[in-house]
Amino acid sequence: MLNIALLSRGPSLYSTQSLFRAARNRGHYVRIIDHGQISLLIEQGVPQVVYEGGKLVGMDAVIPRIGASVTDYGAAIIRQFELMEVYTATRSEALIMARDKLKCLQILSASGISVPKTVIAGVPEALPRLIDMLGGTPVVVKMLESTHGVGVVLAESRNTAVSIVEAFTKLGQPVILQEYIQEAAGADVRAFVVGKRVVASMLRQAQAGEFRSNLHRGASATLTELSPEEEQTVLQAARLMNLEIAGVDILRSNRGPLVMEVNASPGLEGIETTTKVDIAGAIIENLERGVEKYAGRRKR
Ligand SMILES: Nc1ncnc2c1ncn2[C@@H]1O[C@H](COP(=O)(O)OP(=O)(O)O)[C@@H](O)[C@H]1O
Ligand SMILES: [Mg+2]
Repeated sequence: MLNIALLSRGPSLYSTQSLFRAARNRGHYVRIIDHGQISLLIEQGVPQVVYEGGKLVGMDAVIPRIGASVTDYGAAIIRQFELMEVYTATRSEALIMARDKLKCLQILSASGISVPKTVIAGVPEALPRLIDMLGGTPVVVKMLESTHGVGVVLAESRNTAVSIVEAFTKLGQPVILQEYIQEAAGADVRAFVVGKRVVASMLRQAQAGEFRSNLHRGASATLTELSPEEEQTVLQAARLMNLEIAGVDILRSNRGPLVMEVNASPGLEGIETTTKVDIAGAIIENLERGVEKYAGRRKR
């Protein structure tokens, strides 16, 4: 039996509930802890986590479900658990890296993973040439901090692209520009990785007249099988990001699968309901193995 801390700001969220139940069903003690209420005590040799007026002790493992708005503090909390030698399902450094879209794309592409061709403009004057380098319009303009597709815009013309970049820049939002993968036809594939396996995958199809296939944008999800090439790409991407649990999104392009992003805290609702796979169960099972291996390493 493990003593598990489930870090979540929303005790009633589907993902939280699903993980909570899965941990219980496998005989573990699990507590949902709101990381927004956690304080950290930093002192030489005795790192501590303070919650509800007391110190958290006796944890075997944490499962972080950290939202994008609190990545930095969330990562600091995970790091504190790491310093206390508590096993974590997601490492603090991995969370930080995965949340940095630009760094993600740099690392993946440098390791031979195909990604949509992407540029970031140092100066606005460079934009027309950079758009040429992407193969011309249409291009996708993406806020680096975009989530749920909000901050992802399709620019049909060069002038529109430049105007959108100017607007975002004025608002202090850095953006990247990407070649538009037209043949994906408003669909992408979400593959869910747990440990060294893809445990489930679904095709998300955008609503009519929309190119963003986020479920939050009303896209519909169906089952899909990954090709061997897709599966290999997905597993390699998760491994490069140092993630045991990852939602890897790929676009099906004419030149094979392109990795768009790697999500460090992927939601369970859409994919569990679509695929009927017990992903939470797989996560807990993987956690058990992780804790065991980690304890073995510490003893030596
Ligand atoms: N380069 C692209 N070509 C075609 N479609 C894209 C491209 N980039 C993003 N999309 C579509 O827009 C959606 C949202 O983009 P994404 O980069 O995942 O942003 P977010 O992090 O906000 O979800 C994707 O799921 C995909 O359907
Ligand atoms: Mg996305």
